[in-house]
Amino acid sequence: TILVLDFGSQYTHLITRRLRELNVFSEMLPCTQKLSELKFTPKGIILSGGPYSVYEEGSPHVDPAVFDLNVPILGICYGMQELAYRLNPENVIAGTHREYGHAMLKARSIDNHVDRLFDGIEGSMRVWMSHGDKLAKLPEGFHTIATSDNSEYAAIGHENKPIYGLQFHPEVTHTQNGTALLKNFAVGICGCKQEWTMQKFLEEAIAQIRHTVGEKGQVLAAVSGGVDSTVAAKLMKEAIGSRFWAVLVNNGVMRLNECEQVQRDLSEALGINLTVVDASQRFLDGLKGIEDPEKKRKFIGGKFIDIFEEEAIKIEEAAANDPTKAGKIEFFMQGTLYPDVIESLSFKGPSATIKTHHNVGGLPARMANGQGLKLIEPLRSLYKDEVRALGRALGIPEELVMRHPFPGPGIAVRILGEVTPEKVEIARQADHIFISEIRKAGIYDQISQAYAAVDPSRAVGVMGDKRVYGYIVVLRAVTTTDFMTAEAYNFPWDFLQRVMNRIVNEVHGVCRVVYDITSKPPGTIELE
Ligand code: XMP
Repeated sequence: TILVLDFGSQYTHLITRRLRELNVFSEMLPCTQKLSELKFTPKGIILSGGPYSVYEEGSPHVDPAVFDLNVPILGICYGMQELAYRLNPENVIAGTHREYGHAMLKARSIDNHVDRLFDGIEGSMRVWMSHGDKLAKLPEGFHTIATSDNSEYAAIGHENKPIYGLQFHPEVTHTQNGTALLKNFAVGICGCKQEWTMQKFLEEAIAQIRHTVGEKGQVLAAVSGGVDSTVAAKLMKEAIGSRFWAVLVNNGVMRLNECEQVQRDLSEALGINLTVVDASQRFLDGLKGIEDPEKKRKFIGGKFIDIFEEEAIKIEEAAANDPTKAGKIEFFMQGTLYPDVIESLSFKGPSATIKTHHNVGGLPARMANGQGLKLIEPLRSLYKDEVRALGRALGIPEELVMRHPFPGPGIAVRILGEVTPEKVEIARQADHIFISEIRKAGIYDQISQAYAAVDPSRAVGVMGDKRVYGYIVVLRAVTTTDFMTAEAYNFPWDFLQRVMNRIVNEVHGVCRVVYDITSKPPGTIELE
């Protein structure tokens, strides 16, 4: 493992990303991490960039033990300044101007182990700079490995210790050979083997779950049929079999036949011990008259917790009375991913407290406090694409592994204004047609998320020589890598016409179909 200590740079998590792409496992922790509290021994340490100045009072510094561990260290930007400053505070000064953006790096061959970081990298290359401070002088025992026009010490290395510093950011894709530099550090210098594979993760995760849960412990979880909860549930099932209890709440705003489909996929195909609670009427009754999107979300989130809790109590009783299992439910499993926890692992500044996050509207907190359950999050070190790879390693069918995300409040945020059973039905039918045509055209995997929504204002149309008055269906399909920004998908015209034809002909009550081409921002992916 390479340990990445975060000083609060927006790029830090990309360091762990790049290393994992090299099949080297890496974990990020805040720079304040005490090394004596680590649960593993790192083979190397990377100190990230950060928005502070090392010489300012109150600026963050790493545990001195970092320098006594005798493992290779790579300091990036603030991390390099931290290395230099800890050797001698006079090493770092404020730059006369900030350097931000591209710079040309000139590698300087020194012809000894000092430039191992640049093995196989020759000539000049474009790198990404983002700093105000710089080194005033070369720290004692260090050599310059590379320079740029503005940075005399763009890359430095110690003459007899494996300690390196980079003023630029190798982790961002704008830096040429950035991944090669990180590979030279992790593999060449730290001696990490490129062996971190999903199969290995899977074996370790199963062992870890068994160790945590013990021989008799039982685990409860809410599942949705989405990628994360499905993969997490299958993993639990592999680890502890029927001592894992999954609950699916039908909230009345799921897609056409979705509840039945999830039941088939999880229970029949994947063998997961699943209870389905049909609470659709309770949700639809409660949604009556609610028009505000946030109120809808709040209502659905709150009601979901109530219903899940009722079910949890029943399952706990059943679990306690089941002589074949004979254990208490002690754990609550949640499919939290790495991007959700990065927020809480990042360094937030000297005075900030570490935040906890909630994924399903406060459910973990309620289960932990109300039911006294301990939280177990087997996917918390994985990125989304790694979760998909884990799903494949677990033998989950490709169609499930590649499913588009679907929001917790479901179709309710895809019906503008009040949710009624009639509009839910229209949204379901139209969505089913749209997604089926997308699948038929073989473009499902090129699109990040797609759905049909209902605009409740009604428009005039002519059907069979008669004037009709019907709802407007809004089609939305986007591509995105992180769901923070997104572009509308560029469909061929005849595809859109085919979908429009089918929807107006097959879905009763609709007389117009429009395609939403708004990007995010200014739009959002969901309509509400
Ligand atoms: P927006 O609409 O904010 O959506 O661009 C970004 C991503 O988040 C999903 N989303 C939600 N997921 N509960 C969820 O579980 C919600 O209330 C919610 N709102 C949006 C959305 O589907 C997209 O993937």
